[in-house]
Amino acid sequence: QHTLAIVPAAGIGARMGAGFPKQYLQLGDQTIIGQTLDRLLSHPGIDAVVIALHPDDVWFSKLPQSTHSKIRTVIGGKERADSVLAALDSLTESQDVWALVHDAARPCLHHDDIDRLLASRETFPQGAILAMPVRDTMKRAQANGEIEQTVCRDNLWHALTPQMFPAKALADNIRNATAAGAVVTDEASAMEWAGVHPGLVSGRADNIKVTHPDDLPLAELFIQAQSQ
Ligand code: CTP
Ligand code: MG
Repeated sequence: QHTLAIVPAAGIGARMGAGFPKQYLQLGDQTIIGQTLDRLLSHPGIDAVVIALHPDDVWFSKLPQSTHSKIRTVIGGKERADSVLAALDSLTESQDVWALVHDAARPCLHHDDIDRLLASRETFPQGAILAMPVRDTMKRAQANGEIEQTVCRDNLWHALTPQMFPAKALADNIRNATAAGAVVTDEASAMEWAGVHPGLVSGRADNIKVTHPDDLPLAELFIQAQSQ
């Protein structure tokens, strides 16, 4: 049984507004994507890492990780789901491959989280995702900016990554769901579209996605705290 990490890294980071893709910004002693890849490459349960890159990417090949023996690259697509599908379609492993899809933009991933997700295959044979129970009181808004109502927080979770599924089923479901016009913003949603109920595995709060400039100091702090 092979366990691969798929890293969508073909985004342009429009919301970060750095002038180049956010995954190549500095974080701690190296790049954001470098942090992400090191955490995946150093985990003994992960056999290889497939990274989806933008067709115009000129930065990846300059990273120290680019020549690592466990790393492969493919060209990503227009949406995140297209990038993940391109990576899944490139797999040459014959059968029984598990794919852990993890955003390049989540550089604080901890081995504990990978451990718990991998172990959840016993409980959730159709796959599972890291997630966090919602902590704040949730409000549904009206168009005028006023509160319509408070949304019950019971059973509400934030979806994180990695999201782990059998590679073949995931590829089929992303292909079919997107072809049917379904909104596929994460891997679980493609599986849900096909009637699967993926498991929820409680993840660490420091596994944030670096999206806006104000996420950077937070990620810096988490990386520092983890290395102490
Ligand atoms: N991603 C990708 N292919 C795309 C779009 C996004 O591989 N066509 C990747 C990004 O590189 C990132 C992850 O998916 O690692 C999560 O996406 P997001 O945080 O939205 O990153 P960007 O799309 O780069 O940022 P923005 O939406 O602000 O442009
Ligand atoms: Mg995006």
